[in-house]
Amino acid sequence: MKQLSKVARAVTPSPIREMFNKAIGLEDVISFTVGEPDFQTPDNIVKAAIKALENGEHRYTPNAGIMPLREAIAKTTKMSHGLDYSPENQVIVTAGGMEALMLTMLTILDAGDELILGDPCWTNYSRQALICSATPKFVSVRAENNFTFDPDDLEAAITDKTKAFLINSPANPTGGIASRELLEKLAAIAVKHDLYVIADEVYARLVYDGEMPCSIATLPGMQERTIIINSFSKTYAMTGWRVGYALGPSEVISNMVKLQENVAACVNSAAQYGALAALEDPQDEVDKMVASYGRRRELIMKEFETIKGLHCFAPQGAFYAFVDISETGMKASDFATDLLEKERVIVVPGHAFGTDSDRYIRLSFATSDEAITEGCARIRKYMDNLDK
Ligand SMILES: Cc1ncc(COP(=O)(O)O)c(C=O)c1O
Repeated sequence: MKQLSKVARAVTPSPIREMFNKAIGLEDVISFTVGEPDFQTPDNIVKAAIKALENGEHRYTPNAGIMPLREAIAKTTKMSHGLDYSPENQVIVTAGGMEALMLTMLTILDAGDELILGDPCWTNYSRQALICSATPKFVSVRAENNFTFDPDDLEAAITDKTKAFLINSPANPTGGIASRELLEKLAAIAVKHDLYVIADEVYARLVYDGEMPCSIATLPGMQERTIIINSFSKTYAMTGWRVGYALGPSEVISNMVKLQENVAACVNSAAQYGALAALEDPQDEVDKMVASYGRRRELIMKEFETIKGLHCFAPQGAFYAFVDISETGMKASDFATDLLEKERVIVVPGHAFGTDSDRYIRLSFATSDEAITEGCARIRKYMDNLDK
């Protein structure tokens, strides 16, 4: 047979999957790998989707999504960011944040263009850039900067091929948040070099030390060059529903809608009605889930304080603990494999998130208190035995 496409061959499986595969067949495993809420979707959302089906909402919707949902997204964004977006041509409903990111990249990146990403960053970004035959270019981000770009490092990485940079705040895998002061500097760089900015805000509601983080789109000169990515997955425990969205300049969004027609046509109709209820109904369930993640964050950080040789970065948002293992002298991939074999705990090794991050492991604390306590006890035992 003839060779498969360059794109198919360029995209490698995520190392997160490899860890899952290593755990197959093992019993009594505690997993800190899964980046999704362990809650059920709130009842009002489920009921709204059922009602939509009962009401006969069984057909294709507009490619950009049902108008009431686009209006609700624009209204919610006005409330949170103070920005106006037209539901007509500046909002698109997508199959999760994932498809919003993919359509954005397909719309703004040509083959050979560079997209600047932080190292570490979420695994899928670089693979999505590769699907566009673009080049993901990594800039190391450091713990002392909350794992956000140092403006000088970002600017040094820009070439005449750079089309955009991506900011994920709060971030997966670190939980770091970019401050307004930093975003102002990054925005000035975007304007100076005429770059697009992809602002992945899927964890914006999951924050623990105060109000919602600043969005770079709100800064002067930025709304016209920023594509905001958001999702119902994490905020409303709706990962399996596959509903997300993007907001941006009409030229970008209308082209994303054109691509959507050829990719998925539209997001599942009933799921869109569920998402509409998520935005329009009271937000008490979200508040409860966030409070619960906040408690688990405290718990996991307390546990790590008592584990010698490992240092946990205090996450300001999302539900990940990013832990520095460099004192062990091990590569994170070896550490994760050994920990799984000896203590039956799965964590994600940092190299999943960038080549410069193989001295970290990521633990998702979107899991029960019992799993956190028992999992950390096993990690403590593992570390104590390493010392001997
Ligand atoms: C940083 C980040 N962005 C986007 C997504 C996409 O999630 P979804 O497609 O479920 O909205 C994820 C999922 O893990 C994520 O961690």
